[in-house]
Amino acid sequence: MPQPFQHDVLIIGSGAAGLTAALTLPAHLRVAVLSKGSLSSGSTLYAQGGIAAVLEQTDSISDHISDTLKAGGGLCHEDAVRFTVEHSREAIEWLIEQGVEFTRSEDDGEHYHLTQEGGHSRRRIIHAADATGQAVSNALCDRVKERPNVEIFEHRVAVDLITHRKLSLPGNRCVGAYVLNRQTNHVETFGARFVILATGGASKAYLYTTNPDGASGDGIAMAWRAGCRVANMEFNQFHPTCLYHPQAKSFLITEAVRGEGGLLKLPDGTRFMDRFDKRGELAPRDVVARAIDHEIKRLGVDHVYLDISHKPAEFIRGHFPTIYEKCLELGIDITRQPIPVVPAAHYTCGGVIIDRRAHSDINQLYVVGEASFTGLHGANRMASNSLLECFVYGRAAANDIAKRAPDIPEAPLAPDWDESQVRDSDEDVVISHNWDELRRFMWDYVGIVRTTKRLQRAKHRVDLLHQEIAEFYSNYRVSNDLLELRNLVTVADLMICSALQRRESRGLHYTLDFPGLLNEARDTILTPTSWMRRTT
Ligand code: FAD
Ligand code: SIN
Repeated sequence: MPQPFQHDVLIIGSGAAGLTAALTLPAHLRVAVLSKGSLSSGSTLYAQGGIAAVLEQTDSISDHISDTLKAGGGLCHEDAVRFTVEHSREAIEWLIEQGVEFTRSEDDGEHYHLTQEGGHSRRRIIHAADATGQAVSNALCDRVKERPNVEIFEHRVAVDLITHRKLSLPGNRCVGAYVLNRQTNHVETFGARFVILATGGASKAYLYTTNPDGASGDGIAMAWRAGCRVANMEFNQFHPTCLYHPQAKSFLITEAVRGEGGLLKLPDGTRFMDRFDKRGELAPRDVVARAIDHEIKRLGVDHVYLDISHKPAEFIRGHFPTIYEKCLELGIDITRQPIPVVPAAHYTCGGVIIDRRAHSDINQLYVVGEASFTGLHGANRMASNSLLECFVYGRAAANDIAKRAPDIPEAPLAPDWDESQVRDSDEDVVISHNWDELRRFMWDYVGIVRTTKRLQRAKHRVDLLHQEIAEFYSNYRVSNDLLELRNLVTVADLMICSALQRRESRGLHYTLDFPGLLNEARDTILTPTSWMRRTT
């Protein structure tokens, strides 16, 4: 019997990266797009600041490259940076064709307004006020719904990739995925000639994060289990300014607030950034987050303040309407009061290793967006380079598939998911407890400032969680929570092991035991075959 879900291309994830690939693929290919929630779920929808691109005569590709390399702490791959930046204008033009409405300049109403963010030596961030992600997501979701060759599957969670190795067939090819249908609670088999993982990052491994949705590292964990290498998982980016308020966990205050003149202040109203870096509030994120963490710990306070109230109220409401409204709802009028802020886990710089075509170590398996490692971000991603990477590599993957499609045969049939040995769980409390424990020890021991002892503590705990989750996974029917926890435990382990391997402080990885910088900048590459594999 033919498998019910058989496509040319299976795209797992419907954020900026996945939808860009879907919309770039030629119309004769049958495409499936899976989303864990609704089509717009994921981090993309929440992006605020904008997209970095070389758009003005006064800017240059070499300046954007040089800023990215500086922010990346010596670890960016220059060829990847060049590739991405050289495609930045074309990516923005493509977005405009898809219907994304970027904010125009107040001066002439024709040119686009470019804002400023940390690490950039000039204004080069194109944006849609302070809700760029919403403008991008709305346009891409609308366009993809119009495509007759694209079938959308919402509320579907990919569990694991199906590979030749898994099917005991020769070769090293990916041919689909097992997928939990959250509405029927059954695992379905999706076969495909090509698979693109576009599942986003893993910031949910931390107790406090700016990612309100997803970010449980599913794609990284699935690719790792399937045999792909991962790189630089120790570089977790903490955004310096997440709103500190009990009723608004995970609400970001965009870096563009600092770009437009916002100042970081201590509770007594004094500024402090100049003590840490001559670029002040616009130093790269790793520097600003560490400075805030330092001041919070030194003074024993819960947060610092970000103050833009010295700017005209009209300007603030015009540039930051979403933040203005959100803060006002919570009783903070940002035109008159400073905003309480703390750093929070924001972005996963490491991921599954891919090449310029977005191709991974497994044939016909592509990885795009935050789940991937292209070499662009180095030890610290520069602001607004992430969405850019999603568009550039989403398009690269689709173009490569279009070229290779005529030569790639149909995927072989895979057996159905075997549920004969499992039962319904009567102990979901184990999942929620382990989830809390994981996120808390990651925050305490694998956070902004690390030590070898803290990392070893985290390693000990993650090993215990691995065992418990493996047992749970083999005895009980899968659920979204169990799958996310299983993936987060795997990804947390990769982060801890990578951090333990790096015996220096570079970019986002800062350890009190090795405060200096080694002469040679090296990626941390983990290979599944050389790893004692305890993952299920
Ligand atoms: P996402 O947009 O996170 O999408 C992941 C998709 O995968 C979702 O559809 C999800 O449902 C799906 N998925 C995940 N796991 C599974 C699974 N197992 N099965 C099926 N589907 C799955 N970057 C910038 O460049 N500029 C900004 O201004 C900016 N602002 C940001 C603001 C916030 C609050 C946050 C959190 C991030 C921001 N970033 C910004 C980072 C940027 O938004 C993300 O890196 C980017 O959107 C990631 O896109 P993506 O397509 O890789 O993943
Ligand atoms: C922000 O708007 O501060 C986030 C930008 C980014 O993560 O690149």
